[in-house]
Amino acid sequence: MLNATSPAVPAVNDGLHVPAELDASLRMRQACISPKFLYDPLGSKLFEAICELPEYYPTRTEAAIFDLHGAEIARTVGTGATLIDLGAGNCAKAARLFPLLQPRQYVPVDISAEFLHDAVERLRQRFRHIDMLPLGLDFSARLDLPDRVRAERQLFFYPGSSIGNFAPHEALDFLQRVHAQCGRDGGLLIGIDLAKDHAVLDAAYDDALGVTAAFNLNVLRHVNRLLDADFDIRKWRHRGFYNPAEGRVEMHLEAQAAQQVTWRGGSRRFAAGEWIHTENSYKYRQSDAVGLLGQAGFASTRVWTDPRQWFAVIYARALSH
Ligand code: AVJ
Repeated sequence: MLNATSPAVPAVNDGLHVPAELDASLRMRQACISPKFLYDPLGSKLFEAICELPEYYPTRTEAAIFDLHGAEIARTVGTGATLIDLGAGNCAKAARLFPLLQPRQYVPVDISAEFLHDAVERLRQRFRHIDMLPLGLDFSARLDLPDRVRAERQLFFYPGSSIGNFAPHEALDFLQRVHAQCGRDGGLLIGIDLAKDHAVLDAAYDDALGVTAAFNLNVLRHVNRLLDADFDIRKWRHRGFYNPAEGRVEMHLEAQAAQQVTWRGGSRRFAAGEWIHTENSYKYRQSDAVGLLGQAGFASTRVWTDPRQWFAVIYARALSH
């Protein structure tokens, strides 16, 4: 299902394991749902809406860094790369960089395949000279790219602080996989959200309009479809807040009443007040972010940030030169 349009994707990523993975995570003592399931077609649109919210600063702050430092970033990373956009979504962030980066090939990758293909259709009209190869796949577990992806000068683009969904040790694993994939002449351009005032973080993940609440609750609709489950969305409530002990924002869904939930192959009782953990979003100190990239094997890191130092855009080369 997830990879209907990309035949060259390994079995582990083909969506066949989705029911087993979800079933297992719903049975855990502390139930959880992987944040990747937030992104069905509606979830991807709700995330786009989140990016418009006054409280949700990351997208806007990152865009301002690219606006201010784009020319210098382009000089640093060079033109003519194979631009591999991890979690491309609507592809807007990469598209804004096309005039500066002039990629030879654009490879947007996203678990939300349908949403991605619609976005790429529109983009092809605007940039006819760029070879575009959209891949609808889950790159969180492994990063196997088909041979049609050009091997030369692979520039991995991982904006928006999506890296924050991984715990730091998982982030290291992931960055090591990117490093292994990108070759001697490759690099990584990554956006990482920085630690900041807790109230700013609390507001960003629990906005006044309730868009983040809808985004979080929508995961239950998605699970209902994927597993034939019968979650009653009205019986759940969004929780989003910064956890200072863990250095991360957490999203949970809290049961508003005791209930039994049944799905294909399973069932569980939730007590009133019980939580399902749906997302972590780690916030880094700039030095820790640079350190993590170094541990993953990257070198020659360059950091660009905003005046408030809320967000960092970092370029790191696979090899120092
Ligand atoms: C797409 C993972 C970067 O963690 O800020 C937004 C997702 N969750 N609001 C983030 C998200 C709640 C977002 N990332």
